[in-house]
Amino acid sequence: MIDLVIQDKTHDESRQGEALILDPVAGKNNGRKLYIESYGCAMNFSDSEIVASILSEKGFETTSDYNNADVIFINTCSIRENAETRVRNRLKEFKVAKSKNPGMVVGVLGCMAERLKAKFLEEEKLVDVVVGPDAYRDLPNLIDQVDSGQKAVNVLLSREETYADISPVRLNSNGINAFVSIMRGCDNMCSFCVVPFTRGRERSRDPFSIIKECRDLFDTGYREVTLLGQNVDSYKWAQPHPTLSKGEGWGEAVNFANLLELVALIHPDLRVRFSTSHPKDITDDVLYTIAKYDNICNYIHLPVQSGNSRVLELMNRTYDREWYINRIDAIRRIIPECAISTDIITGFCTETDEEHKETVSMMEYVQYDFAYMFMYSERPGTLAAKRYADDIPEAVKAARLTEIVALQQKYSLVRLQAQIGKVQKVLIEGFSKKSKNDYAGRTDQNAMMVFPVDERYKPGQYVNVIAERCTTATLMGTICPPTP
Ligand code: 5AD
Ligand code: SF4
Repeated sequence: MIDLVIQDKTHDESRQGEALILDPVAGKNNGRKLYIESYGCAMNFSDSEIVASILSEKGFETTSDYNNADVIFINTCSIRENAETRVRNRLKEFKVAKSKNPGMVVGVLGCMAERLKAKFLEEEKLVDVVVGPDAYRDLPNLIDQVDSGQKAVNVLLSREETYADISPVRLNSNGINAFVSIMRGCDNMCSFCVVPFTRGRERSRDPFSIIKECRDLFDTGYREVTLLGQNVDSYKWAQPHPTLSKGEGWGEAVNFANLLELVALIHPDLRVRFSTSHPKDITDDVLYTIAKYDNICNYIHLPVQSGNSRVLELMNRTYDREWYINRIDAIRRIIPECAISTDIITGFCTETDEEHKETVSMMEYVQYDFAYMFMYSERPGTLAAKRYADDIPEAVKAARLTEIVALQQKYSLVRLQAQIGKVQKVLIEGFSKKSKNDYAGRTDQNAMMVFPVDERYKPGQYVNVIAERCTTATLMGTICPPTP
């Protein structure tokens, strides 16, 4: 175990298109209302909380009605074409609102900023301000610039920015689960993926501010943190030697296994989750750390993308089928109860029926608890867009997707059925969506459990629940009180 001194010098994933509410910092209200809507991955939602923090410091109050807003921000996602289309349609709706309120500022944040800045600002005149994911500290200046009649842009990517010192304003929060960003960017260059271009180089946030943020969350009642990064297994931070300047020497290093352990040690009642793991980087050390601490959840999201080694090579995933299976076997050996989920792309360039069948057989081998499945969508600027033709007909991509979605339904059901009759520790997150007579919460393995409300227990508490029935997505059960 690495012995880190936690200094107190800093303080510091789908829900599509959510409006976010925050209270202005007391006494600083500037009379302007902010509306912010987020698309895409958990990292984007986490970034919106950083944006909200930066602007609440400047006295912005928020509203959930964009027609009422003085500033509208849309935090965008570029990962697939349909995400971009949704954002573009939304911007057209905001344009209508702006035509009724000419003083309104409309801005695009996040992953679409760099690529579409000229289009949004000049050609289609949809927005006044465009801000990339590493430039949020500049937002107050950029808003001032728009107020003075100019268009404003900052899409500079940074090698250092981690927003470590910014204490995110928790938005739309249940006060129980929070995302904590531990790194930014990605150096992997998977050939289908736009993230390295939109979010820039990988950099890790210092562990002190991460631990402090997690500890503060626990102290204010939160009971689960999800550590976020595009590739958490490559988290790496080295403590600068106290008397040497950077470059001259470095002290102890912290890797992801160490960080997980440090967060787990904050309190046994703080559940720790993390996303996303990368098959090439996930180490046995990480697996042993998960196995060692009860409060590190037995759940790993390990995107496979394809079950065929040739396609994986074209995707530049830097592992092959055998390597991936070896990692799955290691998980099953070291954490036998671990749930595993994945991401899969169908119809990547040149993928044959035989190669697709290897993805199917991978699903049969692993029997994933859950999977996010997509048809390949060519993204401009990526390695695949430059090197390979997007040559699989849409109908073939769709048929392959339909096949794997049906197969996954089967395994999701099999996985949940295996839990029936077992007692699970569930963190109560609130009422179930369908009925105020039921609570909902997740098991250690990330399965949603719904069970009748018992007044003795409140959201934020752990209860033991026996699973009695299930659908493909939810377990249903009853609280079993501890025997006196
Ligand atoms: N087309 C389809 N799916 C993609 N993903 C990333 N880029 C693309 C693309 N161009 C999927 C991958 C990734 C997930 C976040 O989104 O499966 O793991
Ligand atoms: Fe994209 Fe690959 Fe990085 Fe994930 S690991 S963000 S898929 S480049």
